[in-house]
Amino acid sequence: MSDKSKPQTDYTRRDFLMDIGKTGGIAAMYGTMGALGLFAPPAGAKPVNFAPPAGLPRGKKGNRIIVIGAGIAGLTAAYELIKVGYDVTILESRDRVGGRNWTVRGGESETETDGVTQTCKFDRDQYMNCGPARLPQHHVTIDYCRELGVPLEIFTNQNADAYYYNEGPQFGNLSGVPVRHRTAKADIYGYMSELLSKATNQGALNEDLTTSDKELLITFLNSFGNLQSGKYNGSTRRGYKVSPGAGDQRGEVDLPPYELSEMLQSRFGLNFAFEFGWDQAMLMFQPVGGMDAIPKALERAIRNKTKLIYNANVAGIYNTSNGVQVIYEDKSRVAKQLEADFCICTIPPQILKRIPSNFSPEVVDALGVPNPTSTGKIGLQYKRRFWEEDDKIMGGITNTNTNVSTIWYPSYGYLGKKGVVVGYYNFGGNANFYSNLDPAERQEQALLQGEKIHGSSYRSELENSFSVSWIKTQFSEGGWVGWPTSGGQRVPAYDLLNQPEGNVYFAGDHLSYYIAWQAGAFDSARKVVMEIGQRVGA
Ligand code: PHE
Repeated sequence: MSDKSKPQTDYTRRDFLMDIGKTGGIAAMYGTMGALGLFAPPAGAKPVNFAPPAGLPRGKKGNRIIVIGAGIAGLTAAYELIKVGYDVTILESRDRVGGRNWTVRGGESETETDGVTQTCKFDRDQYMNCGPARLPQHHVTIDYCRELGVPLEIFTNQNADAYYYNEGPQFGNLSGVPVRHRTAKADIYGYMSELLSKATNQGALNEDLTTSDKELLITFLNSFGNLQSGKYNGSTRRGYKVSPGAGDQRGEVDLPPYELSEMLQSRFGLNFAFEFGWDQAMLMFQPVGGMDAIPKALERAIRNKTKLIYNANVAGIYNTSNGVQVIYEDKSRVAKQLEADFCICTIPPQILKRIPSNFSPEVVDALGVPNPTSTGKIGLQYKRRFWEEDDKIMGGITNTNTNVSTIWYPSYGYLGKKGVVVGYYNFGGNANFYSNLDPAERQEQALLQGEKIHGSSYRSELENSFSVSWIKTQFSEGGWVGWPTSGGQRVPAYDLLNQPEGNVYFAGDHLSYYIAWQAGAFDSARKVVMEIGQRVGA
């Protein structure tokens, strides 16, 4: 790396979120493509012919491709390449497809990088999506589900009846009090509307608004905040102490509202913006039966048309005078060698940088630039769906400032006997905290936090748990990466890795502006397949 591209050191989670919130050129480009006529060019662009040039015999340049990694990027690359007649071999280090798209079920074992093994004890039909778990409507992931026939169901990303729970002296009277999303929203929207209404009526906005616009604003605020004569006094939006019913049962509204100052101190309002996000707004979706339905469908589609080698540990990637050579150890640790015209490598950069290669020093340096993110989850299998039966919460997410960060209620198996709650899904420091505990301690800490919100059932109804620490997960070593930025741009290492190194192309969500989304992996795979096609066709 040259000095002028020195990355900023204070790359925060906020920067990361802002960074990935922006849609990149690739996404925009594919957005115009509509249905998956995958290589249909954007309107106005010159069509690209992806088929190998007529008459090119198999085994000649451009025909043989080694894909490293059977995660979403690798499988997608293979899937698209075989559509146009390439000869593809996939090397996968695990004994399954999917990579970070991993749905854990009863009977499965996993050993973390420190040697600790867990075996999942979930019942049949119970599962946890350890990695990706929610799909926005507009992601290309949905288009692949359509093409591959993967059935979807709604994933509840926002539920008015889930809780906010913060604790600490700065949170005032509401410290340690679980408050329903709907209640916090009613009060905060109400008070904000009242304040703005007051300011408008006192003339504070006279320079900004015409008289008629002021009237329209007041009308809006009365509706938005549920104001009566310009004041917020609470409303049914908060919920009921006694619900309405038959005959003379009018119900008892949960009044009075919290005070404005209490609501501000609670900081609950800082959670509201999440659901406005481009990628987090409802509706969200999930494949029926587990997120791994996606890689499994891709695997079925390429089966018999590619060679997929499991338990293959890549030990060397080399550009040769006329193509690429990849060295790997097979299941029995025997070194094997493959040759091809091109390689598409989807190994996470933090791992790839340790693998022997003849990449240029600049490329090897660039692989060390993105920062792996720590993130983790615990699945708590309960023998009773107390969140549904007692709390009337049918899916959705509770937010808290405790170290669990979020608690996810399952968006499947409603009204059933058992269920798996995600007891934490967190990032950064909170994820590291859990990562550094053994599985039993992770469970205990998750229970200590969850009990504060759900009471004793959170412990007494538990049957078993399974936790994942992505930073300690073999072959992943992180949930995703964050690119340092400089002057609002990703550092040049990002652009460098988006270029082929000789005949090796890098792909994965880390090389997209949809980091931490499967859409980034799909898009990145499509990009390199298109590039290889252009090169072969040229
Ligand atoms: N896609 C992941 C999720 O939805 C990671 C992520 C979190 C990405 C927050 C953007 C914002 O949890």
